[in-house]
Amino acid sequence: MYPERPAGIAYGGDYNPEQWPREVLEEDVALMREAGVNLVTLGLFSWALMEPEEGRFAFGWLDEIIDRLHANGVAVDLGTPTAAPPAWFVARHPDVLPVTREGVRIGFGGRQSACSSAPAFREATARLVRALGEHYRGHPAVVMWHVHNEYGAPLGECYCEHSVAAWRAWLRQKYRDISALNDAWGTTFWGQTYTDWAEIDAPRANHTTVNPAQRLDYARFSDGQHREHYALQRDILRELTPGLPVTTNFAGTVNCKSTDLWQWARELDVIANDHYLQAERPDNHIDLAMSADLARSVAGGRPWMLMEHSAGAVNWQPRNLAKRPGEMRRNSLAHVARGSDSVLFFQFRASRFGAEKFHSGMVPHAGTGSEQWREIVRLGADLRKLAGLRGSRVRAEVALVWDWESYWALELDWRPSVDLTFRERMDAFYEALWREHVTVDFVHPSADISGYRVVVAPSSYLLTEASAKNLHRYVEAGGHLLVSYFSGIVDEHDTIHPGAHPGALRELLGLSIEEFHPLREHETVTLTTGDPARVWSERVRPAGAVTVEGFADGPDAGHPALTRHDLGAGSAWYLATAPVTGLRDLLARVLDHAGVSRPRGLPDTLELVRRGGHVFLINHGDRPVTAEGVSGVSVFDGVRHDGPVTVPAGAVTVLLETPRP
Ligand code: GAL
Repeated sequence: MYPERPAGIAYGGDYNPEQWPREVLEEDVALMREAGVNLVTLGLFSWALMEPEEGRFAFGWLDEIIDRLHANGVAVDLGTPTAAPPAWFVARHPDVLPVTREGVRIGFGGRQSACSSAPAFREATARLVRALGEHYRGHPAVVMWHVHNEYGAPLGECYCEHSVAAWRAWLRQKYRDISALNDAWGTTFWGQTYTDWAEIDAPRANHTTVNPAQRLDYARFSDGQHREHYALQRDILRELTPGLPVTTNFAGTVNCKSTDLWQWARELDVIANDHYLQAERPDNHIDLAMSADLARSVAGGRPWMLMEHSAGAVNWQPRNLAKRPGEMRRNSLAHVARGSDSVLFFQFRASRFGAEKFHSGMVPHAGTGSEQWREIVRLGADLRKLAGLRGSRVRAEVALVWDWESYWALELDWRPSVDLTFRERMDAFYEALWREHVTVDFVHPSADISGYRVVVAPSSYLLTEASAKNLHRYVEAGGHLLVSYFSGIVDEHDTIHPGAHPGALRELLGLSIEEFHPLREHETVTLTTGDPARVWSERVRPAGAVTVEGFADGPDAGHPALTRHDLGAGSAWYLATAPVTGLRDLLARVLDHAGVSRPRGLPDTLELVRRGGHVFLINHGDRPVTAEGVSGVSVFDGVRHDGPVTVPAGAVTVLLETPRP
């Protein structure tokens, strides 16, 4: 369920007028009109103002703001401010303060200062949300609910007494019988056998490493506690305002390590994502694209909302580079190209005080005489021209397997190499595909993947038997699968699949692994392509697979590095190392084998994405780029292009693709 209003692409952001004198509201609504702002998020951190003392609710100040916005055509995404419980509440219930894995109870003065499992917090949440819902039920300005803020960031796991009590209840429900838990966790190792649920603690900091299956379950449990806290609010809001969508914003899909967004997606009416550039990374627009593609994928392909990004610099990175002219526009339009029906910012007006006063806003400290404000106004006008895109889809022929459980499990302690990290491989494959101008979806390994020509599994360390069978069926039916090393190794309890690695995928890949040979830091080996590779080498024994490329030197010289197993109507490829420069070429071979079409001969500074009959050409480079094979009418200036289209340096061209007359 997507919010019915505003029409077209939503434009605006978090708005915190409570930080300003009343007259600034008047100036702000005028500026919103100038920029075409049509949606703002209110109240996200305003619990202390909404409930100044226990049980006394004060919404008058907010009514006035909402009414002014409404009178000016700005719709409201109304926040439930549970990410900022008030000082009086925490003072009365100090037991709600979260405890870290190291046993430190955090203090008041930041945000996210209550544990999602704490009974007092849940009770106070329910009371407040009911009062808020009752008060704003039927208000014409309120078009959706925005619950909490970025669950799991930074508070992923809590180790307080309430968490431990809930954890034991969770385990009991999951395993029923303590011997089932002992089996699942492999507690005969290091003599950890439990005889009673009360003996089980949270996997706290330890002078050695803690049982990995216990930690994996704690990650699942902790994420589920946040979801319960969300669902508590959502259910109240659905009861009171059945027509309004309810969501919560993700702390950047690709950065949300502690939140399994496949699970979260089932609980949300509309997916909302926040994305912030890694300011110092030159190609940070690739991370942006990945975050957007993952948002669209967890939304099941439906349009999603870019709930936050920044107009300029953020304030929380080591060096907070301002966006260069044109960069914000490229960023915003890239999100829209990849399926967002909104462009929202944190925040409308930059704060003068508090922790985020050096964070940019749509209205910067420099005011409206600034280049940034001019860009904001121009972007608002551009987005109005893209209104027709609303509700349209993005199609992808290639999918990347992304599973949070595998992410969690891989990054527990004591793996064969510290260089085995989930994001490193995901980023490498995503980037290679991005540079090939291939639009990708992300999929869970158990999902229906039959519609994709190619599925790539860059980092599927944890793979259940059922998911492995799903991949098997996909290949047999004609799909083409590429698996990267250290995949299919363990099951859902971090227990190694029986037999030689990769237990879950041996048959599908037509090979087994005799020994891992992780490489030293900075060490490289050479592939038969002549390209160097790093991090990993291993002894692959083909059993049905053919060798496509081998290791030319290193511990596995003369043995396979890239294999292909033809199975049924499809093929299963395996890459046993991390090419330094050659990944894109190897991937291209798989794409060609599978007949994946993509534009050729374009520089990889040009982002080319299609959505709803439009083609977006986003030039991230500092030179003009000419693209062949696209034609249509430019949405921003109405010019028709039938020959090659030249996109100036740093610019964005969007064509409504129409055949030549
Ligand atoms: C987000 C958060 C916002 C704001 C922003 C600053 O993660 O949801 O409230 O803090 O970061 O970049």
